[in-house]
Amino acid sequence: MKADDLDPILHGARRARLAQAMQAGIAVLPTAPERVRNRDSHYPYRYDSHFYYLTGFAEPEAALVIVAGAQPKSLLFCREKNAEREIWDGLRYGPEAARERFGFDEAHPVSALDAKLLELLADQPALYFPVGADAAWDARAIGWLNAVRANVRAGVCAPERVQDVRALIDEMRLVKDAHELGVMRRAAAISCAAHRRAMQAARPGRYEYELEAELLHEFRRSGAQFPAYSPIVAGGANACVLHYVANDALLRDGDLVLIDAGCELGGYAADITRTHPVNGRFSGAQREVYELVLAAQAAALGQVCSGKAWNEPHDAAVRVLAQGLRDLKLLSGSLEEALEKETYKRFYMHRTGHWLGLDVHDAGDYKRAGKWRTLAPGMTLTVEPGLYIRAAADVPERLHGIGVRIEDDVLVTEAACEVLTAAAPKSIADIEALKRDTRPRAGDAR
Ligand code: GLY
Ligand code: MN
Ligand code: MN
Repeated sequence: MKADDLDPILHGARRARLAQAMQAGIAVLPTAPERVRNRDSHYPYRYDSHFYYLTGFAEPEAALVIVAGAQPKSLLFCREKNAEREIWDGLRYGPEAARERFGFDEAHPVSALDAKLLELLADQPALYFPVGADAAWDARAIGWLNAVRANVRAGVCAPERVQDVRALIDEMRLVKDAHELGVMRRAAAISCAAHRRAMQAARPGRYEYELEAELLHEFRRSGAQFPAYSPIVAGGANACVLHYVANDALLRDGDLVLIDAGCELGGYAADITRTHPVNGRFSGAQREVYELVLAAQAAALGQVCSGKAWNEPHDAAVRVLAQGLRDLKLLSGSLEEALEKETYKRFYMHRTGHWLGLDVHDAGDYKRAGKWRTLAPGMTLTVEPGLYIRAAADVPERLHGIGVRIEDDVLVTEAACEVLTAAAPKSIADIEALKRDTRPRAGDAR
């Protein structure tokens, strides 16, 4: 997605909604800084999600200012045109073109931000700001407030209230609009294709990083800008390390490989996990564990619809997993005991999902006033139960080192949920069929 795919009317409408939620006051939202990787090389640049949600503007060194009230307006502060730098780094919009292209009421050089805020903050009741997100910006915000306060004897009133602007934007981001859902569907489709490709490429003797390369190739050839997070390609017992990212081990005959990877397209993340046999066939023990996780996921998906509480999918998954762990002789005692004492946490230690959107773990509270939030149409989340069975003396040997997670991205609708990532195979029959159809023939190169 290039900037030209963006719709300034859409972003303008979001800014208007934020101004309405603020009622009065000034909001200031800086974008993310560029970060040095070493010496004069930078990490790939990624804008701040809140800033981008409200602007669609992808350049660094920029800030959005919103003036709420009877006549709300939005101002962009950005880099000026610079012929010399544009030879090296490419286009900079500059304030004039940015104002026109992105639909701001005003745009100014970013160097003018401090002076302009002294004017704008005078006689305003509140400053809305991402408080605590960045120490340097916090200090700068205190500087603006103190500078306005220095004028009180001239009759100027300084804001009495500083409020975290992110809380208001998080509420907006929680329910996706049609444009966001369109982008998320494309990110999901690309990520499903990448998982299919990695499934087809897996075989004994390959390395985890070779599958990672297949994923990244598919993301990029399809126009996705980045992986949404560091891909996990975990063969055998590596799957029991939840945040495994080394991806440098040999894939062995008889092992499973767990792949957790999704692309970022136009700022929006997909987040998919599939677990499949390196050699194309699940063993008996692997099949038992896999079917159990799949059943837990089906139970959780059955609880994702408008009106359900956030914890209901998780509780449904846990109930299925805990019963299955008893059947596998990994837990003793009654089901109710396992649930109450949370003994299942030895094998299932994470929650069953999270909001998904511009951030892979997206904006939005999970509880409000001590109560789990109610799901509503337009919310997007992951559903991702798993089991991680480390080798131990009290664990049957045939289950040692089996780690399985199955993760889909879903959209809450009125009556049920829509699985956005259904194109990545997950039944045992579909996985084995895909791998059978692509198994190398005798004489093929490795
Ligand atoms: N890939 C991160 C997660 O599944 O939450
Ligand atoms: Mn996830
Ligand atoms: Mn994931």
